[in-house]
Amino acid sequence: MSKSYRVAILGATGAVGAELLELLESRNFPISNLKLLASPRSAGRTLKFQGEDLPVAAVTAESFANVDLVLASAGGSTSKAWAKTAIAAGAVVIDNSSAFRMDSQVPLIVPEVNPQAAAHHQGLIANPNCTTILMAVAVWPLHQVQPVKRLIAATYQSASGAGAQAMVELQTQSQAILQGETPQAEIFPYPLAFNLFPHNSPLNDWGYCEEEMKMVNETRKIFGSPEIAITATCVRVPVLRAHSEAINLEFAHPFPVEKAREILAAAPGVKLVEDWQANYFPMPMEASGKDEVLVGRIRQDISHPCGLELWLSGDQIRKGAALNAIQIAELLVAKNWLHPAAAATI
Ligand code: A2P
Repeated sequence: MSKSYRVAILGATGAVGAELLELLESRNFPISNLKLLASPRSAGRTLKFQGEDLPVAAVTAESFANVDLVLASAGGSTSKAWAKTAIAAGAVVIDNSSAFRMDSQVPLIVPEVNPQAAAHHQGLIANPNCTTILMAVAVWPLHQVQPVKRLIAATYQSASGAGAQAMVELQTQSQAILQGETPQAEIFPYPLAFNLFPHNSPLNDWGYCEEEMKMVNETRKIFGSPEIAITATCVRVPVLRAHSEAINLEFAHPFPVEKAREILAAAPGVKLVEDWQANYFPMPMEASGKDEVLVGRIRQDISHPCGLELWLSGDQIRKGAALNAIQIAELLVAKNWLHPAAAATI
């Protein structure tokens, strides 16, 4: 007897919301009812799902009645405002925001890395930061063979990380510049088109921005390895929707490049993209729309005998957000880790 679930998407009209809708449909997630929730601005809109126009409603306290699973991607303050209400109403919340990620009671899950940690959820599971997810998928397989001592990352992050409006802003700015006009910046602090700038999240006393600290703290939590030394420099680049990352790994002993390549070629969620003759490696344009994290340019760090360099591109909206959330939902269903009573029988 198969079960199906009553699902709500909070933030259905956003960039990640659109991808969640697409993935629920294309991956045949067992749904008996789908509720689309957003801000009052979107009430009355409709969105297509399985060929039907479904209405979008403004989220209210009543929205979560008769819902088994909430996929939330409407920002931290919206998650903070509604998560408890949804859980109290009997739903399990998979939250894409940063609101609860570092809460010790809340599992932070990348299914390729720490699926077992989801078993102990108390109604809430956090979906990690996008840059962190992409890095975790690529680094975990190596870390399992030989623990990473130190990780140095530099990111090249697309506009999509700041939402659908930021993507539109990048396109509008690009057109303005090509027409000889002055680009206007509203979502981002500065023009992103034909430019780049250090990530625009708040800075701490050490000069690290929030995004960089997410990579540090979330990676340690996901890996269950608080001892890894991690540092990152996060940068916004004028790319629409896939992030890239340069990653330097230091181990206690040399890690042969060929071994790393073999491990990554077989790693779940990874696609090795390397043609050294053609100087062809992962690119955000090719990562866009793909499920896998593209990894390549694996090479010995010439500055350290126990160092490895690698390069990756991954779809920020897909594996960096919506796909990871859906994979968590699929995991809960497969393991029967959603509240069993929550499942409607068909
Ligand atoms: P809306 O479209 O009604 O503003 P993105 O990250 O692409 O910008 O998307 C953000 C998503 O979060 C949108 O679906 C947006 O809905 C939703 N959202 C933003 N603020 C709220 C809020 N206060 N309550 C519910 N949904 C919200």
